Amino acid sequence: MKQKIGLIGHGTVGKALYEQVKGLRQYEIAGVIVKHLEKKRNVPDSLLSGDAEILINDPDVHVVLEAIDDAEAAFEYARKTLELGKIYISASKKMIAGNLPHLHYLVRKYGGKLLFEASVGGAIPVLRTIREHLAGEHIERIRGIVNGSCNYILTRMGEDKIDFDEALIEAQEKGFAESDPSADIDAWDSYYKAQILAYTAFGDKPDFSRVKWEGIRNVTLNDVSDAIASGEKIKLIADIRRHEERFTIDIRPTRIGPADPLYHIDRENNGLIIEGKYTGPVLLQGAGAGGNPTASAMIGDLVNAPRGNFEMVRKLLLAIN
Ligand code: HSE
Repeated sequence: MKQKIGLIGHGTVGKALYEQVKGLRQYEIAGVIVKHLEKKRNVPDSLLSGDAEILINDPDVHVVLEAIDDAEAAFEYARKTLELGKIYISASKKMIAGNLPHLHYLVRKYGGKLLFEASVGGAIPVLRTIREHLAGEHIERIRGIVNGSCNYILTRMGEDKIDFDEALIEAQEKGFAESDPSADIDAWDSYYKAQILAYTAFGDKPDFSRVKWEGIRNVTLNDVSDAIASGEKIKLIADIRRHEERFTIDIRPTRIGPADPLYHIDRENNGLIIEGKYTGPVLLQGAGAGGNPTASAMIGDLVNAPRGNFEMVRKLLLAIN
Protein backbone atom coordinates (compact mmCIF):
# COMPACT_ATOMS: atom_id res chain seq x y z
CA MET A 1 0.00 0.00 0.00
CA LYS A 2 1.23 3.49 -0.79
CA GLN A 3 2.21 5.76 2.07
CA LYS A 4 0.33 9.07 2.03
CA ILE A 5 2.48 12.13 2.59
CA GLY A 6 1.83 15.86 2.83
CA LEU A 7 3.96 18.55 1.21
CA ILE A 8 4.15 22.13 2.46
CA GLY A 9 5.73 24.67 0.11
CA HIS A 10 6.13 24.86 -3.64
CA GLY A 11 9.08 27.19 -4.08
CA THR A 12 12.51 26.22 -5.46
CA VAL A 13 12.89 23.22 -3.13
CA GLY A 14 9.17 22.37 -2.90
CA LYS A 15 8.83 22.10 -6.68
CA ALA A 16 11.84 19.78 -6.95
CA LEU A 17 10.52 17.75 -4.03
CA TYR A 18 7.10 17.35 -5.64
CA GLU A 19 8.66 16.11 -8.89
CA GLN A 20 11.04 13.71 -7.11
CA VAL A 21 8.30 12.22 -4.90
CA LYS A 22 6.09 11.69 -7.96
CA GLY A 23 8.79 9.38 -9.30
CA LEU A 24 8.68 7.11 -6.22
CA ARG A 25 6.11 4.33 -6.39
CA GLN A 26 5.71 3.79 -2.65
CA TYR A 27 4.37 7.28 -1.88
CA GLU A 28 1.15 9.09 -2.67
CA ILE A 29 0.96 12.87 -2.30
CA ALA A 30 -2.13 13.70 -0.22
CA GLY A 31 -1.83 17.46 -0.68
CA VAL A 32 0.45 20.36 -1.49
CA ILE A 33 0.12 23.42 0.74
CA VAL A 34 0.95 26.77 -0.87
CA LYS A 35 0.74 30.38 0.26
CA HIS A 36 -0.42 31.85 -3.05
CA LEU A 37 -3.18 29.61 -4.40
CA GLU A 38 -3.74 31.92 -7.36
CA LYS A 39 -0.28 31.20 -8.86
CA LYS A 40 -0.22 28.79 -11.82
CA ARG A 41 1.59 25.58 -10.85
CA ASN A 42 2.37 22.23 -12.32
CA VAL A 43 0.27 20.47 -9.66
CA PRO A 44 -3.32 19.19 -10.07
CA ASP A 45 -5.85 21.61 -8.50
CA SER A 46 -7.28 18.76 -6.44
CA LEU A 47 -4.00 18.56 -4.48
CA LEU A 48 -3.47 22.26 -3.88
CA SER A 49 -4.68 23.92 -0.71
CA GLY A 50 -3.81 26.82 1.57
CA ASP A 51 -4.80 24.97 4.75
CA ALA A 52 -1.92 23.00 6.25
CA GLU A 53 -3.86 22.01 9.37
CA ILE A 54 -6.33 19.82 7.47
CA LEU A 55 -3.42 17.99 5.86
CA ILE A 56 -1.47 17.61 9.12
CA ASN A 57 -4.59 16.32 10.92
CA ASP A 58 -5.51 13.84 8.15
CA PRO A 59 -5.32 10.46 9.95
CA ASP A 60 -3.94 8.83 6.77
CA VAL A 61 -1.02 11.27 6.57
CA HIS A 62 1.85 10.27 8.86
CA VAL A 63 4.66 12.20 7.23
CA VAL A 64 4.78 15.92 6.41
CA LEU A 65 7.62 17.40 4.33
CA GLU A 66 8.08 21.15 4.53
CA ALA A 67 10.26 23.58 2.57
CA ILE A 68 9.12 27.16 3.21
CA ASP A 69 11.03 30.24 4.27
CA ASP A 70 8.55 31.52 6.85
CA ALA A 71 10.19 30.24 10.04
CA GLU A 72 7.24 31.09 12.29
CA ALA A 73 4.71 29.27 10.13
CA ALA A 74 7.12 26.34 9.72
CA PHE A 75 7.47 26.06 13.50
CA GLU A 76 3.69 25.96 13.95
CA TYR A 77 3.41 23.18 11.35
CA ALA A 78 6.27 21.27 12.98
CA ARG A 79 4.74 21.65 16.43
CA LYS A 80 1.31 20.45 15.32
CA THR A 81 2.74 17.49 13.41
CA LEU A 82 5.01 16.41 16.26
CA GLU A 83 2.24 16.78 18.86
CA LEU A 84 0.35 14.17 16.86
CA GLY A 85 3.39 11.86 17.10
CA LYS A 86 3.92 12.08 13.34
CA ILE A 87 7.06 12.56 11.25
CA TYR A 88 8.10 16.07 10.18
CA ILE A 89 10.83 16.53 7.58
CA SER A 90 12.06 20.08 7.13
CA ALA A 91 14.55 22.10 5.10
CA SER A 92 13.93 25.27 7.17
CA LYS A 93 17.26 26.00 8.82
CA LYS A 94 16.09 29.21 10.51
CA MET A 95 13.10 27.44 12.05
CA ILE A 96 15.14 24.40 13.15
CA ALA A 97 18.07 26.43 14.53
CA GLY A 98 15.79 28.81 16.41
CA ASN A 99 13.78 26.09 18.13
CA LEU A 100 16.12 23.12 18.63
CA PRO A 101 15.58 22.39 22.34
CA HIS A 102 11.81 22.91 22.05
CA LEU A 103 11.53 20.66 18.99
CA HIS A 104 13.67 18.05 20.69
CA TYR A 105 11.34 18.14 23.69
CA LEU A 106 8.29 17.64 21.42
CA VAL A 107 9.96 14.67 19.73
CA ARG A 108 10.67 13.03 23.11
CA LYS A 109 7.28 13.83 24.60
CA TYR A 110 5.04 12.69 21.75
CA GLY A 111 7.21 10.04 20.10
CA GLY A 112 7.23 11.61 16.64
CA LYS A 113 10.32 12.22 14.54
CA LEU A 114 11.95 15.36 13.19
CA LEU A 115 14.42 15.01 10.34
CA PHE A 116 16.25 17.95 8.81
CA GLU A 117 19.19 16.68 6.81
CA ALA A 118 18.32 19.17 4.04
CA SER A 119 18.78 22.12 6.40
CA VAL A 120 22.60 21.95 6.26
CA GLY A 121 24.82 21.37 3.25
CA GLY A 122 22.08 20.68 0.65
CA ALA A 123 22.79 17.26 -0.83
CA ILE A 124 25.69 16.49 1.54
CA PRO A 125 24.76 13.78 4.08
CA VAL A 126 26.40 15.60 6.99
CA LEU A 127 23.92 15.42 9.86
CA ARG A 128 23.38 11.68 9.53
CA THR A 129 27.14 11.20 9.26
CA ILE A 130 27.65 13.06 12.54
CA ARG A 131 24.70 11.41 14.29
CA GLU A 132 25.19 7.84 13.21
CA HIS A 133 28.56 7.18 11.62
CA LEU A 134 30.48 9.31 14.11
CA ALA A 135 28.20 8.39 17.01
CA GLY A 136 31.03 7.36 19.30
CA GLU A 137 33.67 9.81 18.15
CA HIS A 138 35.08 12.74 20.13
CA ILE A 139 34.25 15.46 17.61
CA GLU A 140 36.60 18.35 18.25
CA ARG A 141 35.92 20.69 15.38
CA ILE A 142 33.62 21.16 12.38
CA ARG A 143 34.87 23.65 9.86
CA GLY A 144 33.32 24.38 6.52
CA ILE A 145 31.65 26.33 3.77
CA VAL A 146 27.92 26.06 4.45
CA ASN A 147 26.41 28.79 2.29
CA GLY A 148 26.17 28.06 -1.43
CA SER A 149 25.21 31.60 -2.43
CA CYS A 150 28.23 33.23 -0.76
CA ASN A 151 30.56 30.62 -2.19
CA TYR A 152 29.04 31.15 -5.63
CA ILE A 153 29.44 34.94 -5.37
CA LEU A 154 33.07 34.72 -4.17
CA THR A 155 33.91 32.20 -6.90
CA ARG A 156 32.41 34.36 -9.67
CA MET A 157 34.20 37.46 -8.33
CA GLY A 158 37.50 35.56 -8.27
CA GLU A 159 37.32 33.58 -11.49
CA ASP A 160 35.39 35.95 -13.71
CA LYS A 161 36.00 39.33 -12.05
CA ILE A 162 32.31 40.15 -11.99
CA ASP A 163 31.30 42.46 -9.17
CA PHE A 164 29.49 41.53 -6.00
CA ASP A 165 26.02 42.82 -6.97
CA GLU A 166 26.01 41.07 -10.32
CA ALA A 167 27.15 37.79 -8.76
CA LEU A 168 24.43 38.07 -6.12
CA ILE A 169 21.76 38.54 -8.79
CA GLU A 170 23.02 35.37 -10.48
CA ALA A 171 22.87 33.44 -7.20
CA GLN A 172 19.27 34.60 -6.83
CA GLU A 173 18.35 33.70 -10.40
CA LYS A 174 19.79 30.23 -9.97
CA GLY A 175 17.63 29.64 -6.88
CA PHE A 176 20.55 29.44 -4.42
CA ALA A 177 19.88 32.61 -2.43
CA GLU A 178 17.23 33.09 0.25
CA SER A 179 14.16 35.20 -0.61
CA ASP A 180 15.86 37.92 1.46
CA PRO A 181 19.49 37.46 0.37
CA SER A 182 20.86 39.43 3.31
CA ALA A 183 20.36 36.15 5.21
CA ASP A 184 23.09 34.73 2.97
CA ILE A 185 25.51 37.63 2.60
CA ASP A 186 25.32 38.75 6.24
CA ALA A 187 25.96 35.13 7.29
CA TRP A 188 22.72 34.51 9.20
CA ASP A 189 22.14 31.42 7.10
CA SER A 190 25.63 30.11 7.96
CA TYR A 191 24.96 30.83 11.62
CA TYR A 192 21.70 28.81 11.59
CA LYS A 193 23.52 25.92 9.94
CA ALA A 194 26.42 26.12 12.41
CA GLN A 195 23.94 25.95 15.29
CA ILE A 196 22.30 22.87 13.78
CA LEU A 197 25.69 21.21 13.26
CA ALA A 198 26.72 22.02 16.83
CA TYR A 199 23.47 20.73 18.30
CA THR A 200 23.71 17.52 16.30
CA ALA A 201 27.32 16.96 17.32
CA PHE A 202 27.27 18.22 20.91
CA GLY A 203 23.58 18.15 21.92
CA ASP A 204 23.59 21.80 22.87
CA LYS A 205 23.72 25.36 21.51
CA PRO A 206 26.54 27.71 22.46
CA ASP A 207 25.50 30.77 24.39
CA PHE A 208 25.41 33.84 22.23
CA SER A 209 28.58 35.33 23.73
CA ARG A 210 30.52 32.42 22.22
CA VAL A 211 29.34 33.15 18.68
CA LYS A 212 31.07 35.57 16.30
CA TRP A 213 30.11 36.16 12.76
CA GLU A 214 30.69 38.44 9.81
CA GLY A 215 29.27 38.10 6.29
CA ILE A 216 30.70 38.87 2.87
CA ARG A 217 28.86 42.12 2.20
CA ASN A 218 32.05 44.17 2.49
CA VAL A 219 34.32 41.89 0.45
CA THR A 220 35.39 43.81 -2.66
CA LEU A 221 36.65 42.71 -6.04
CA ASN A 222 40.02 44.13 -4.93
CA ASP A 223 40.11 41.92 -1.81
CA VAL A 224 39.34 38.85 -3.92
CA SER A 225 41.96 39.78 -6.55
CA ASP A 226 44.57 40.44 -3.85
CA ALA A 227 44.00 37.00 -2.39
CA ILE A 228 44.29 35.39 -5.82
CA ALA A 229 47.53 37.28 -6.54
CA SER A 230 48.98 35.62 -3.41
CA GLY A 231 47.78 32.17 -4.48
CA GLU A 232 44.83 32.24 -2.07
CA LYS A 233 41.03 32.54 -2.18
CA ILE A 234 38.51 34.20 0.11
CA LYS A 235 35.89 31.79 1.46
CA LEU A 236 33.14 32.28 4.04
CA ILE A 237 34.22 29.75 6.64
CA ALA A 238 32.18 28.59 9.62
CA ASP A 239 34.32 27.17 12.41
CA ILE A 240 32.79 25.27 15.32
CA ARG A 241 35.34 24.27 17.95
CA ARG A 242 34.98 22.26 21.07
CA HIS A 243 36.98 23.37 24.11
CA GLU A 244 36.44 20.89 26.94
CA GLU A 245 32.92 21.53 28.27
CA ARG A 246 31.99 24.34 25.91
CA PHE A 247 32.22 25.19 22.24
CA THR A 248 32.42 28.29 20.08
CA ILE A 249 31.17 29.30 16.63
CA ASP A 250 33.15 31.70 14.47
CA ILE A 251 32.02 32.62 10.96
CA ARG A 252 33.96 35.03 8.77
CA PRO A 253 35.42 35.61 5.27
CA THR A 254 38.83 33.95 5.44
CA ARG A 255 41.84 33.79 3.11
CA ILE A 256 42.92 30.19 2.54
CA GLY A 257 45.51 28.53 0.31
CA PRO A 258 45.51 25.33 -1.78
CA ALA A 259 46.71 23.17 1.14
CA ASP A 260 43.30 23.71 2.75
CA PRO A 261 40.74 21.28 1.25
CA LEU A 262 38.09 24.04 1.40
CA TYR A 263 40.11 26.07 -1.13
CA HIS A 264 38.94 23.65 -3.81
CA ILE A 265 35.22 23.95 -3.00
CA ASP A 266 33.85 26.42 -5.52
CA ARG A 267 30.58 27.84 -6.85
CA GLU A 268 27.44 26.72 -4.97
CA ASN A 269 29.19 23.71 -3.51
CA ASN A 270 29.61 23.30 0.24
CA GLY A 271 32.42 21.51 2.05
CA LEU A 272 32.66 20.33 5.65
CA ILE A 273 35.63 18.98 7.55
CA ILE A 274 34.66 17.09 10.69
CA GLU A 275 37.64 16.51 12.95
CA GLY A 276 37.37 13.62 15.37
CA LYS A 277 39.97 12.64 17.96
CA TYR A 278 40.30 9.18 16.44
CA THR A 279 39.09 9.69 12.85
CA GLY A 280 41.22 12.72 12.03
CA PRO A 281 39.66 15.06 9.46
CA VAL A 282 36.70 13.72 7.47
CA LEU A 283 35.87 15.82 4.41
CA LEU A 284 32.38 15.92 2.92
CA GLN A 285 31.54 17.99 -0.12
CA GLY A 286 28.76 18.46 -2.68
CA ALA A 287 25.99 20.71 -3.93
CA GLY A 288 25.06 22.99 -1.04
CA ALA A 289 22.08 24.81 -2.52
CA GLY A 290 19.48 24.47 -5.24
CA GLY A 291 16.15 22.71 -5.60
CA ASN A 292 17.09 19.20 -6.64
CA PRO A 293 20.07 18.61 -4.30
CA THR A 294 18.12 19.91 -1.29
CA ALA A 295 14.98 17.95 -2.19
CA SER A 296 17.09 14.82 -2.58
CA ALA A 297 18.24 15.15 1.04
CA MET A 298 14.59 15.40 2.10
CA ILE A 299 13.75 12.25 0.15
CA GLY A 300 16.60 10.47 1.95
CA ASP A 301 14.94 11.44 5.24
CA LEU A 302 11.56 10.31 3.94
CA VAL A 303 12.84 6.86 3.01
CA ASN A 304 14.79 6.47 6.27
CA ALA A 305 12.15 7.95 8.59
CA PRO A 306 10.28 4.74 9.42
CA ARG A 307 13.51 3.01 10.58
CA GLY A 308 13.56 2.12 14.31
CA ASN A 309 14.35 4.61 17.02
CA PHE A 310 15.40 8.05 16.01
CA GLU A 311 17.53 10.46 17.98
CA MET A 312 18.03 14.06 16.98
CA VAL A 313 21.53 14.17 18.41
CA ARG A 314 24.35 11.64 18.59
CA LYS A 315 23.21 8.49 20.34
CA LEU A 316 26.36 8.01 22.37
CA LEU A 317 26.54 11.60 23.46
CA LEU A 318 26.00 10.85 27.11
CA ALA A 319 28.53 8.06 27.03
CA ILE A 320 31.28 10.23 25.55
CA ASN A 321 30.79 13.40 27.56
N1 HSE B 1 20.56 30.15 0.59
C1 HSE B 1 21.13 28.91 0.97
C2 HSE B 1 22.55 28.84 0.44
C3 HSE B 1 20.31 27.77 0.43
O1 HSE B 1 22.88 29.64 -0.42
O2 HSE B 1 23.33 28.01 0.90
C4 HSE B 1 20.71 26.42 0.92
O3 HSE B 1 20.53 26.30 2.31
